[in-house]
Amino acid sequence: MLQEKQIVIGVCGGIAAYKVCDLVRMLKKAGAQCFCMMTSSAQEFITPLTLSTLTGQKTVCGMFEQNKDWEVEHISWAKRADVLVLVPATANVIGKINAGIADDFVTTTVMATKAPVLIAPAMNTNMFENPITQRNIAQLSELGYHFTMPDEGFLACGDTGRGRLAETERIFEDIVRLCTPQDLAGKSVLVTAGPTREAVDPVRFLTNHSTGKMGYAIARAAARRGAEVTLVSGPVSLPAPYGVRVEQVESACQMRDAVIQSAPKMDLIIKSAAVADFRPAHVADQKLKKNQLPEIQLEKNPDILQELGQMKLSAVLVGFAMETEDLEQRAKEKMERKGLHMIVANNLKVEGAGFGTDTNVVTVFSKDGSVKRFPKLEKTALADEILTMAKEWIVR
Ligand code: CTP
Repeated sequence: MLQEKQIVIGVCGGIAAYKVCDLVRMLKKAGAQCFCMMTSSAQEFITPLTLSTLTGQKTVCGMFEQNKDWEVEHISWAKRADVLVLVPATANVIGKINAGIADDFVTTTVMATKAPVLIAPAMNTNMFENPITQRNIAQLSELGYHFTMPDEGFLACGDTGRGRLAETERIFEDIVRLCTPQDLAGKSVLVTAGPTREAVDPVRFLTNHSTGKMGYAIARAAARRGAEVTLVSGPVSLPAPYGVRVEQVESACQMRDAVIQSAPKMDLIIKSAAVADFRPAHVADQKLKKNQLPEIQLEKNPDILQELGQMKLSAVLVGFAMETEDLEQRAKEKMERKGLHMIVANNLKVEGAGFGTDTNVVTVFSKDGSVKRFPKLEKTALADEILTMAKEWIVR
């Protein structure tokens, strides 16, 4: 995700400085190289050695440190950054940057960089709400500086309020977005994911093995690429992807209502949910007892995708087809019957494809007759491939 990206992190003097360690770990796990620089106050909270050990790189603390390469270090750091992050950013450093002050390694590097700068403030609530801080944040935002705004909660000083450093995941996601081309900016994308549950009685239901991994990966990838994403999700145990509006549903009928309501506003609809085709015709009011073997009559659920196909929407429609035989013929027939632009087909019997796995093996058929066969890919990587293909249809 962040392969070959260089993230320069300016650590400032706040108690949340220790949380940088976790951020560095996440960034490195995602493939980034991290370089830390510290203000003198930051060194009162954590040591340069901690950060150097985690980054595997020298941590710079002063303007006039001797370096082996005799390069002008703050300039070379400013140039190497794909993203420069200030975390935790104090009221003091935010004020200095807005005033154009560059009097140490961190502020000088910020002044010298052309990379996107992400500022994650953390401070006491009164300091954060101080009109001077608010004015500085507003003016810097207007100049194109990015912010991961603080959370509300219990603060180290004992107060409760706004000012706690944002969750590390939120800062990480904002860094990922700044490293990702925003090719879906301005587009509205609707994704469905997971199984549906069709009630039999108050304690039982019919469902399938879908875990929602593919749909959640698509929703997350679209949001990272700048789209405004709505995820209509059946019951799964995955965390909501950051920056995605999630609508939780249970049954196919609830999923239908949620999807049909949002559909007219969408540029792209990707239906990766495994919708139950049938539901019990009658849901028992009371728990069915085992001494009388029940006969469960089924009736058909609405075919949501087919209904979308008949709605004459402006959205690009992408469906999924899960087959166990005659993959190509059945997928193409579904694409035509449901009026889709693309269908992503997989054969459940192929190793590495289907429910619950982190990988999938798919072939994508498009209505212009083109066929793209993918090797076994991580669902996260496949999500981007599907979005890239679907984007072509949006601009057509
Ligand atoms: N789908 C839907 N509503 C349904 C059933 C399926 O919107 N009631 C969507 C799925 O989200 C998927 C596509 O239709 O994108 C194909 O689903 P699949 O289960 O493979 O096909 P079905 O149409 O159900 O056909 P069959 O069960 O006969 O293979």
